[in-house]
Amino acid sequence: AAGDATAVAHPNIALIKYWGKRDERLVLPWTDSLSLTLDVFPTTTRVRLAPGAGRDAVTLDGVPLAGEPRRRVVAFLELVRERAGLALPAVVETRNTVPTGAGLASSASGFAALAAAAGAAYGLGLDATGLSRLARRGSGSAARSVFGGFALWHAGQPGHADADLGSYAEPLPVPVRALDPALVVAVVDAGPKAVSSREAMRHTVDTSPLYRPWAASSQADLIEMRHALDRADLDAVGEIAERNALGMHATMLAARPAVRYLSAATLTVLDAVLELRRGGVAAYATMDAGPNVKVLCRGADAQRVAAAVRGAVGTAAVHLAGPGPGARLLGA
Ligand code: DP6
Repeated sequence: AAGDATAVAHPNIALIKYWGKRDERLVLPWTDSLSLTLDVFPTTTRVRLAPGAGRDAVTLDGVPLAGEPRRRVVAFLELVRERAGLALPAVVETRNTVPTGAGLASSASGFAALAAAAGAAYGLGLDATGLSRLARRGSGSAARSVFGGFALWHAGQPGHADADLGSYAEPLPVPVRALDPALVVAVVDAGPKAVSSREAMRHTVDTSPLYRPWAASSQADLIEMRHALDRADLDAVGEIAERNALGMHATMLAARPAVRYLSAATLTVLDAVLELRRGGVAAYATMDAGPNVKVLCRGADAQRVAAAVRGAVGTAAVHLAGPGPGARLLGA
């Protein structure tokens, strides 16, 4: 029924990273980014309009949200209400299956699902592009989780009159079968991160002398990545993704003071990945705002890669993921 909608969305892992905003309020990035949406760890969100209620009721896995996480959801609902021309508060119930705050992009699946459910409940009537723009306002990476498979998020033109319009993700046509991509996710630490990615990227842009050079090289990486995807060259895709991620972490390490998400266990997994490559297995690592490692490999090699990672870090929980679907409404 109108006023009540439930949506599901999956996390995505960036192969070309988003790191740094040119506009915090509108969540406009400095660079384009490119990702793969996964088929694991879905987030399900139900939004119901609540005419009698005094304020929004927001729960995550049955527990009321407070503080900054609640503020972010309420600010997002305010944006939706403003567009809908409706003042009604909402009941928002979210079920997450990903360890929140562990650098596994729970904000991407979370805000993609919230955008789809809230957009429908408040009757915004958005197409996929509009939904991607809206999800972006909740969390930048969520713009990409609106789409399944590979997605490209356009930074948009700096200085453009309506910059919001130019910054959205779109699905990329990639020969997925020929590429046969898989991600082996090694959770070396499932605890919440010490510094939020929002804060860390602001600090990096403001203080790291390596930020601008990385942003420039990232745009070049993106062009090479698109060619590598077109020809289903997994080795090239992995090589570009790994250097792009390591470059992003280098910008953080050079920030003043340094932001360091990578741990000793991260480096142990990176050693195992190198060892796999020496043994002729295509395996490449990427890391986000946390110590966990996502290893890109062929689906056909995923079990072998998972075993090598387990052998290196016995304590790590290892998950196998493939390409997943975009955000969708349930029962619509
Ligand atoms: C390292 O999308 O979580 O995962 O826009 O501030 O919510 P906000 O940041 P967020 O940042 C993700 C950063 C990253 C790289 C990526 O996913 O591209």
